[in-house]
Amino acid sequence: MSETEIKSIQWFPGHMAKTRRAIKENLSLVDAVVEIIDARIPLSSQNPEMGRMTAGKPRLFVLNKRDMADSSVTDKWISWFRSRGIAAVSMDCKTGKGLKSFTAALENQVLKDLLETRRSKGMSGTPTRVMIVGIPNVGKSSFINRMSGSKKAKVEDRPGVTRSKQWVKLGDRIEMLDMPGVLWPKFDDQEVAKRLAFTGAIKDDILDTETLAMLLLEYLAGNYPEMLKARYKMDTTTEMKGLELLELLGKKRGMLISGGEVDTERAAIMLLDEFRAGKIGCISLERPEDDQNG
Ligand code: G4P
Repeated sequence: MSETEIKSIQWFPGHMAKTRRAIKENLSLVDAVVEIIDARIPLSSQNPEMGRMTAGKPRLFVLNKRDMADSSVTDKWISWFRSRGIAAVSMDCKTGKGLKSFTAALENQVLKDLLETRRSKGMSGTPTRVMIVGIPNVGKSSFINRMSGSKKAKVEDRPGVTRSKQWVKLGDRIEMLDMPGVLWPKFDDQEVAKRLAFTGAIKDDILDTETLAMLLLEYLAGNYPEMLKARYKMDTTTEMKGLELLELLGKKRGMLISGGEVDTERAAIMLLDEFRAGKIGCISLERPEDDQNG
């Protein structure tokens, strides 16, 4: 990526302490924690404190929006998680692809021992309870709606369970606790912030659109040049810098202002819109081999 610095991110939802508390309070009610993440940025879309907050609970990662990610990279991510002993599945909540793998992974991997113990004690009727968490915009609501499907039913109030908590049934066996409140990504890391901004998870008004577009173009020229060629007829090299790429894009799209100059702002908005709508192609912004922590 270029050395260009993006403005320091001030995105800071006000509900963090409340959410942190709510997770802690509800942890004893569930058998496992399911964290929904974005398949295009499986590390950057995680909540940095989730491991610590849910320590001791089995976890399952759902790499959602797999339809927008590079499938070969998503496969590598699934292996990457599994090689670290972490259960992970990929899914597309827009069409519902991969839904079955979720239940299978939950019951046959993540909670295998617990379910066996229950069976041996004649308690196989006890529903499995999972807490669903995720930073904004990863598709948490879409996931819950998809999983519960037409049979969506709220679980009746139980003693000791307040109304602010929302339990949703998934078939007869699983109950999902949709955690209210907002979870935050690791937005103080510039690389992470950039990737979140590319996907639209961080709002544009706190970022410089043209800088963001230039950074995205550099990434695309380095990793997916064939897609820039196919969509915008751009011939790029890895040596080309962001501004040069953005001007080329504007020119290719005829986005000129008086004097023949390129309207770089318009080109930047168009690029980001098209990227977020998945029009450029299936693109992953993070690869396992980029992971700094091994
Ligand atoms: P959240 O609860 O985590 O905040 O996310 P939500 O489900 O609201 O989803 C955020 C956006 O991501 C929505 O798009 C949703 O349609 C989209 N989305 C969720 N899952 C998937 C997926 O697997 N693939 C794709 N391609 N998109 C997904 P939106 O533009 O905000 O709304 P709309 O498209 O539903 O109108």
